[in-house]
Amino acid sequence: MMHNERCALTNVLVTGGAGFIGSNFVRYLLQVEPQVQIVNLDALTYAGSPANLKDLPSPERHTFVHGDVCDRSLVDGLLRQHQIDTIVHFAAETHVDRSIVYPEQFLKTNVVGTFTLLEAARQYWLVEKQKPLEAVRFHHISTDEVFGALHPGEPAWTETTPYAPNSPYSASKAASDHYVRSYVHTYGLPCSITNCSNNYGPAQFPEKLIPLMISNALEGKPLPIYGDGQQIRDWLYVEDHCAAIHLVIAKGRVGETYNVGGGVQPTNLEVVEHLCAALDEVVPESPHAPHKQLMKFVADRPGHDRRYAIDITKINTELGWRPRHSLGQGLQQTVAWYVSHQDWIQTIRQQPDYQKWLQRNYTKR
Ligand code: NAD
Ligand code: DAU
Repeated sequence: MMHNERCALTNVLVTGGAGFIGSNFVRYLLQVEPQVQIVNLDALTYAGSPANLKDLPSPERHTFVHGDVCDRSLVDGLLRQHQIDTIVHFAAETHVDRSIVYPEQFLKTNVVGTFTLLEAARQYWLVEKQKPLEAVRFHHISTDEVFGALHPGEPAWTETTPYAPNSPYSASKAASDHYVRSYVHTYGLPCSITNCSNNYGPAQFPEKLIPLMISNALEGKPLPIYGDGQQIRDWLYVEDHCAAIHLVIAKGRVGETYNVGGGVQPTNLEVVEHLCAALDEVVPESPHAPHKQLMKFVADRPGHDRRYAIDITKINTELGWRPRHSLGQGLQQTVAWYVSHQDWIQTIRQQPDYQKWLQRNYTKR
């Protein structure tokens, strides 16, 4: 096992930094690392938006590049031009439901995209030796979904739990994780991986459970709960995830994976009921209150994973990380953010692609 004494976190390439977690991470890193320069490579798919990068702290330390992580010559050029010492790879197709309908794009972006970045990093850092090895890091953002699904009573996933992905999305993330692992083992590329549970918070695209429910409720639209609503997820406020990633990059061991989770596992039904109650408080004058009346059970997601739970012992004992936000606090802040960013929601909800997705996924469900 390799040890890493980082002496640089200076020129950072963030991929997918116009999406939900990536944009929150860019904001976080600019705040906690006063010297850092960030190059943000994002293809601006339906899930990414420059609006997520408005009002950044120290915007002069952030450079946005519109492009695809599968474009090798573009990535090669960015590594050289900006003398990149750290890559934080968020860019991905991320929605499980979309992966069931359109699996191919997940293979391209999540597997080929990660491979392309690994190859570019290997060339620049290991073959050309453009940076001291102890100063570089490739950090890959992954998911707990690679572990499959838990039965009631089974223990939470640790870093040694075998992979068992169940959806085209999680299969593509698992494949990308395996590529990262192989580049450490075969070439000695200094990589690390975080496998995180369900995030929520500001700027999450409103087709994922929490922002979909909030934005539908604000418009008096039905709140579609898949199956019996008894599925369990391990929810983490996005800022806590950003803090974990930063710690792993700065202090985590090379070649290691770290599980990151919120330690709180409500059913989907409980989450939606909580959101409805929070909305009743924040917008009591709404004609749609009580919002609970909008809840509607719909046909289940094919292959729907029943339960997720993450064991954070390793990152807690090695790096001292634990979530700072309770679920109650985090959901309150999230509801408040969406209620005060209705222009942001409407810009997305009026897009033809978004309407097409709602039609495809929910009509006749
Ligand atoms: P998101 O869908 O909100 O954003 C993805 C971003 O990647 C978008 O800005 C999009 O434009 C960009 N992108 C997509 N394809 C690209 C390409 N080919 N080249 C460059 N950019 C591209 O995703 P998110 O929820 O912020 O997730 C970010 C990462 O975190 C993903 O790798 C995801 O697997 C992982 N993750 C997400 C969660 C979660 O709950 N959201 C939990 C654990 C891990
Ligand atoms: O676990 C981490 C993963 O969490 C990330 O890797 C993914 O990128 C992220 O999208 C998320 O995947 P999920 O499938 O768990 O998230 P989603 O918000 O789509 O759904 C959460 C739960 O809510 C899930 O059990 C399905 C259910 N659901 C979702 C939607 C969109 C509903 O009941 N109704 C809905 O309309």
